[in-house]
Amino acid sequence: MPRPSLLSHRAIALEPSLTLAITARAKALQQEGRDICSMSAGEPDFNTPDFIVEASIKALQDGITRYGPAAGDPELREAIAEKLSRDNQIASQASNVLVTNGGKQAIFNLFQVVLNPGDQVLIPGPFWLSYPEMARLAGAEPVIVPSKAEDGFRLDLQALEAAITPNTRMLVINTPGNPTGRVSDRAELAALADIVRRHPQLLVMSDEIYEYLLEDGETHHSFAAVAPDLAERTFVVNGFAKGWAMTGWRLGYLAGDAEVIKAASALQSQSTSNVCSFAQRGALAALRGSKDCVRSMASSYNQRRQQLVAGLQAIDGLTLIPPKGAFYAFPKLPDSSEGSMAFCKTALEQEGLALVPGAAFGDDRCVRLSCAVSHETIEDALQRLGRLLAH
Ligand SMILES: Cc1ncc(COP(=O)(O)O)c(C=O)c1O
Repeated sequence: MPRPSLLSHRAIALEPSLTLAITARAKALQQEGRDICSMSAGEPDFNTPDFIVEASIKALQDGITRYGPAAGDPELREAIAEKLSRDNQIASQASNVLVTNGGKQAIFNLFQVVLNPGDQVLIPGPFWLSYPEMARLAGAEPVIVPSKAEDGFRLDLQALEAAITPNTRMLVINTPGNPTGRVSDRAELAALADIVRRHPQLLVMSDEIYEYLLEDGETHHSFAAVAPDLAERTFVVNGFAKGWAMTGWRLGYLAGDAEVIKAASALQSQSTSNVCSFAQRGALAALRGSKDCVRSMASSYNQRRQQLVAGLQAIDGLTLIPPKGAFYAFPKLPDSSEGSMAFCKTALEQEGLALVPGAAFGDDRCVRLSCAVSHETIEDALQRLGRLLAH
């Protein structure tokens, strides 16, 4: 007799990561000695700046090794609140801030404390792949409102509003966006704010984790600054991973209404407790230190993004909406091509090229490439992709 599953309904419903199979296959091929060119990275290729590392080492040497307050080191919460007030024009105090294990835990905690079973979460597509799963884990239903490469991935505001029902509780905004690299301008956020005003039950989650990674001439706008009257319904997710090259530190934050922050902090106190105490000292140093390191890394991604964009635009059959931020490009495959999973499998087997299938982000006609790799790797990837599409 087959053994009954040990898993909860929640675990059974969890979508396994679509990208995992490709990553595992790329690793296996590499171990077999194949020359693999990977464009699938979702993280900076820089080391964390020295002054941040040193602050954390000093904290360890000073004995900052014990439990701390679940909501985060008070000084760090204060520094984040100051940053939000000063740089993002979102008036904040420490009580509006929760320090989390990466932006991921900020989103997870927020969804857990504001969503009820049956609630709907409106997610413009293409989207970062964890949003729908986190909504489901909170018992809610993700509702995707797609946008197309042909339309520059512009949000379809009419479709978005038409998708709102009395059960719609949350709207997700992500600018600069993963995977498209799209940056919302002030007018688009203002139009979204008009929609949110018409639906008083709606909360907004604004994921601004790529805030500092912008093409020259682009500006980052925070939704809560564009619509200050909606600030008490808006929650900011941000973190140190992308801007300061601190992915492994697991340092992010959630900011918004103090009552919700208190509930999210209670949840954190019963699950993971505080974020690593000496890592938080590194984050404090990052916020207090010069932003030169952030600017210099952003400028390096810009050069590499331009190289990637020019190369992709020169390949026959691909349609690319040039990304304006983050460190990805999300070209559309030729209409004749198979779905993105099959395309990525062929790219890996035939050309040793590892890409992320667009299906993981809700658009099966695209693939994602990272520019957080060397100029040589970008050139190599472009040649492999060009060869593949020429066949
Ligand atoms: C859009 C977006 N939001 C949030 C995150 C989570 O970042 P963190 O590493 O801080 O958990 C990522 C990471 O890839 C991301 O791309």
